[in-house]
Amino acid sequence: MFNELCCENKIYRNLVDGRWVDSKSNKYLEIHSPIDGTLVGKVPAMSQEEVDLVIKNSKAAQKAWNDVPVNKRAEVLYRAADILYERAEEIGSVLALEIAKDKKGAVSEVTRTADYIRFTADAAKAMEGDVLPGDSFPGYNRSKLSFVSRVPLGVVLAISPFNYPVNLSASKIAPAVAAGNSVILKPPTQGSISALFLAQIFKAAGLPDGVLNTVTGRGSEIGDYIVKHPNIDFINFTGSTEVGHHISEITAMKPVLLELGGKDAAIVLEDADLENAADNIVSGAFSYSGQRCTAVKRILVMDSVADKLVDLLKTRIQKLKIGDPREEGTVIVPLIDNRAADFVMELVEDAMEKGAKRIMGEKREGNIVEPMLFDNVTLDMRIAWEEPFGPILPIIRIKNMDEAIDIANRSEYGLQSSVFTKDIDKAFYIADKLEVGTVQVNNKTERGPDHFPFLGVKSSGMGTQGIRYSIEAMSRPKAVVLNFNRK
Ligand code: NAP
Ligand code: G3H
Repeated sequence: MFNELCCENKIYRNLVDGRWVDSKSNKYLEIHSPIDGTLVGKVPAMSQEEVDLVIKNSKAAQKAWNDVPVNKRAEVLYRAADILYERAEEIGSVLALEIAKDKKGAVSEVTRTADYIRFTADAAKAMEGDVLPGDSFPGYNRSKLSFVSRVPLGVVLAISPFNYPVNLSASKIAPAVAAGNSVILKPPTQGSISALFLAQIFKAAGLPDGVLNTVTGRGSEIGDYIVKHPNIDFINFTGSTEVGHHISEITAMKPVLLELGGKDAAIVLEDADLENAADNIVSGAFSYSGQRCTAVKRILVMDSVADKLVDLLKTRIQKLKIGDPREEGTVIVPLIDNRAADFVMELVEDAMEKGAKRIMGEKREGNIVEPMLFDNVTLDMRIAWEEPFGPILPIIRIKNMDEAIDIANRSEYGLQSSVFTKDIDKAFYIADKLEVGTVQVNNKTERGPDHFPFLGVKSSGMGTQGIRYSIEAMSRPKAVVLNFNRK
């Protein structure tokens, strides 16, 4: 099975119309591991001409796929989930090497994806339509019935980010194909190889030729061309706010779903269980070195309990294992590249210059950045507002709940927030006022369980993911109105 996707010299191929195809122009991108620079493989840098053929093929394949009953589409998804489970260790190892994710986290990304696909098949079969009688509207009698069902949008372009190349590709592909769309997957360049393995699994599960095609190549080179292509009917994008914003600007009338960056706050009140808050904040902020959209990216803590919280955080952060993600228990892994580490250190320097108190963590070696905690962070510091996508955590001390709400809402982002308190009234008071997609009470910010709605507001996104919500986002209502004579 491996050989069709990858051939000699670690050259990988794209899935186009059910076949594994080499680069026509013989142009490839080298993918090196962020761990030690080893060559993981090479993927085709597809040209505009090659992209045109893919889109044409996807358009044709969608027409036939639309005619396949949903129970048959679901069977393909169940098979894909089974194969993914069977190959979780193997794909987890590729993922660990390609994006420097800790091995346990990488395998769990794959099994979570299998669960996601299976749940999607269940949800697709459970979708229902509506029958609306006309006479509920003034002036109409009972001679009209509207039959409302959902139909696919056509060709969905799925663009995924480097930090979850398997899960955030599959969480677009599965609901899209369940709804009867065909999908073109443009994976992140760093993460393409893991995503191509995923495509191989959908093919092995019996997804018909052309219903899933892949396009590899740098987003900065091929991205604008593909997103603007007239035969792309919907764009489902997860990635940075900068690129998401750019896509929404250049695509005019095309429908898009955007899952973008975040600056999730953990608000800690005086009456919080501080041990629980510290456990959640540390795992929320530092797992995968903070390279998660939902990572805790700032703490807003009441001054009266801040010292105690800092001590609890410190003891926990000191225990985090730093280094090679292939070793058991590593949490702080190399960042995706040196540029990412440079950016993190820029934020650190700015904070230090402006008087932040460094509680712990200092060193950066290459793309490994030690976990860092900063206290007394003030609102003039970049670290208070920007998304580091790295293992650094600022603490902003607050005097009351309303100040926390005000600072939280002044962010350009609005993905999630946590509130730690034992007082349910306070939790709901704050939750009600926060401008975010989701508020977690007494838990870290996180996306799962994956059937929950997941969305960002403001610069964190547009539209809603989450299994049923994703199927709805990638389909539309279609009404057939029956007009009859009532005697
Ligand atoms: P990114 O640089 O924005 O890249 C995301 C994807 O967009 C990649 O596949 C990239 O391809 C592609 N791309 C780049 N330029 C493009 C263009 N002009 N047209 C079309 N596609 C283009 O983001 P990232 O660094 O991979 O991921 C980190 C960011 O994603 C963070 O900001 C994080 O918060 C966010 N994120 C958000 C969520 C969420 O659900 N809200 C989830 C995960 C991550 P190349 O790799 O080839 O450049
Ligand atoms: O990076 C963004 C992911 O969608 C976050 O998912 O909360 O399960 O890590 P997660």
